[in-house]
Parts: sequence; C-alpha cells; structure tokens
Amino acid sequence: MVTKNRKNTQKSGEAPAGRSFCFSLAASTQLITRRLEFQPALHAWYRIHQRKLPWREAPSLYKTVVSEFMLQQTQVTTALPYFERWQRELPDFKVLAAASEAKVMKLWEGLGYYSRARNLHKLAQALAGRTEPPRSPADWQELPGIGPYTAAAITSISFDEPAACVDGNVVRILARLTGEGRLFRDGSAAAKHFTPIADALIIGSHPGTHNQAMMELGATVCLRQRPLCLVCPVAGFCSARKSGDPEKFPRLRPKQIEQRSVIRVWCEQRGQLLLKRSHAGARQLAGLYELPEARDLHLPPPDKKTLLAVKRRAITRFQITESIYALKQTPALRQIIASDESLEWVSLEKLDDITLSGPHKRWIQELRQHVKT
Ligand code: ADE
Repeated sequence: MVTKNRKNTQKSGEAPAGRSFCFSLAASTQLITRRLEFQPALHAWYRIHQRKLPWREAPSLYKTVVSEFMLQQTQVTTALPYFERWQRELPDFKVLAAASEAKVMKLWEGLGYYSRARNLHKLAQALAGRTEPPRSPADWQELPGIGPYTAAAITSISFDEPAACVDGNVVRILARLTGEGRLFRDGSAAAKHFTPIADALIIGSHPGTHNQAMMELGATVCLRQRPLCLVCPVAGFCSARKSGDPEKFPRLRPKQIEQRSVIRVWCEQRGQLLLKRSHAGARQLAGLYELPEARDLHLPPPDKKTLLAVKRRAITRFQITESIYALKQTPALRQIIASDESLEWVSLEKLDDITLSGPHKRWIQELRQHVKT
C-alpha cells in the first residue's frame, strides 16, 4: 500500500545510466511482485533475532516518540543509557511537558544535536494542549522536530499507519535488493527514490513491525561494510548479492569535506573556569556551555607555547580542529568578560550542575587533570 499523506520536500537523484536503470526497475518490480514471500521471510527472522530494546518492551506512544527522537542521529548502543535515565526521570508526556528546560537539557547532555531535546520538550507541551494525539504521518509532521522518517516510525509503530521509514539503513537494503546502480546526489535524494518501493513492501496489519524489521536488518545484517549475506533472511531476493559485490550499493556522491579550525581558551582562576553559554535562541547549542573561543574575547591567535591540547572532530560535512590554549586573566580581559553576559565564571566543583556540550565535557574533564594553575 502506498501512503498518500507523506510530505516530502527532498529533490530527486541523478538520471540513471540506461542499462542499469532498466535492470534496477525490473528488479524493483520483481521485488514488489514477490512481497508476499519477502515480508514473511523478513518478519519470521525479526521475531527470532530482534534485539531486546527497552522501547520495544511494553511499547507506548511516549516510549516510541522518545526513542525515535534519540535515534534520529544516534546509534542504538549510545542512546540506550540515555533512554533508560530519561524514562526514570520523565516517564510520560505530562511530566516531560511540565519539566524545566534545564532538566531536559541535562538529561540530553552528551547525546548531541540538542535541538532534538528542545523539540521533544515542545512536542510534549503541544500534545498536553490536545485531547488526542494526531494519528496520521502528515499531522505528526506539523509537530516540532518531526520529519518524514520520524512521522512514519511513530505512526506505523503506534497507530498501524502503512508509512515506510526510509533512512540510510533502509536505503542500503533497498539499493542492494534492487541492484540500483544510479549515483545519488545525497542520502535524501536516495531516500526519496526508494520511498515508493519501501511503501509498496508494507502489506498486512503490522506496518510498525515491518519497519522495525527493516531497521533491524540494516543495523545488524545488511551492514555498510562486510554485510552478513550468509545469514540474511532475504538474500534470495537480493540483486546485489547475485552481482557479487553488495558493498558497492548504494552509490552516493562523496560528501565535500570542509576543514574548519577553531581556537579556544582555557582560562582558570581561583577554582573557576571561564565558559561561554550560547544564547537561548541559538539553533544548535542553545543554553549549553562551552569553552570560549579566542574571538569571543577579542583576542588574536595565542602564543603557540601556551597550547594545551588539539582536538579533532567531525560534524556533518565539517572536519573541525579545535586548539585549546591556556590564558591568563588581564585587566583588559576582565573588562571584556564583565561586558559580555554570555561569558561566565563557573566553579570547577559545580560543573555537574550545568549542561556542557558533550565534547567540551570530555575535554574539560581531561584538561583538569593536566592543567596546573
Ligand atoms: N532506529 C530508528 N528507530 C529505531 C527503532 N525503533 N528500533 C531500532 N532502531 C531504530
């Protein structure tokens, strides 16, 4: 069944090369034609091999929503302890809606992509004002932080809506099953291409089980590298396996990596550390604390001799090199700090009371061991 109420704004992939297009079109049609065999094979495997995950035990709409928000950019193993703690502290929509933003952010500390936590909080508040939660994917997409994937996951799992979840894992499975050889501009273009096929594979009354079985297959068998084809329950339907090189699929244009470099300062005095708090409306890190950048303090690049650490990290398409320099207070600096509300002295003993962005929390813990003042 193909869902009609799906809102999708992504642009499509590139034009295919003639022969591989015909081949993959035929393979897609064949896969859809064989869906009455495909689905039972997949579901029988899922019933036996699914991981025991806390949101799958005694599932509820709330558990599904929280888990889907956490899993938007995060692996299951990373999300697990956060999910358990969240459930203990904020067990339902009502408690979440009434919680302070500080508490919500603290529970999300280290999970990254903090707009998810703020949107989840806003979503709980929006639901608190309604008698019934929405049921269709289109209505869920009107709520904060909900895109096509999350709307499909929530409504298929909680309300049996026949909407397929199409993320990177599902794209990979479908590209391999159909042997789709075209080069996609990015993951969104690929997801758009495969959505009708993914929707068409949903049959019967448990679309949520089907979606989770697909996610599980992508996460545990149809791996990006070295897929476990020998234990795959749907290997008999797979064109890429027949071709002998499943790792080749899907074909995505390589991301343009951009290098960035950031200069930060470690300024400590009398047991306090200078931190910068992003302003409340900031898109990424609103309200979170980080080590300040030299430019926040109107400072030129510091003397190399004061370099404490160099940290590298990747965020989306950016490769960021962060250099952290030791800085001593001066009268001029004192004035700058006093005139900027976002700069705060925070007691090193009280760092647990504030919410730091994940990498900064780790760096500060590490540097505290080494910096002698
Ligand atoms: N990834 C996204 N949603 C998921 C779910 N419900 N179970 C496992 N992995 C997921």
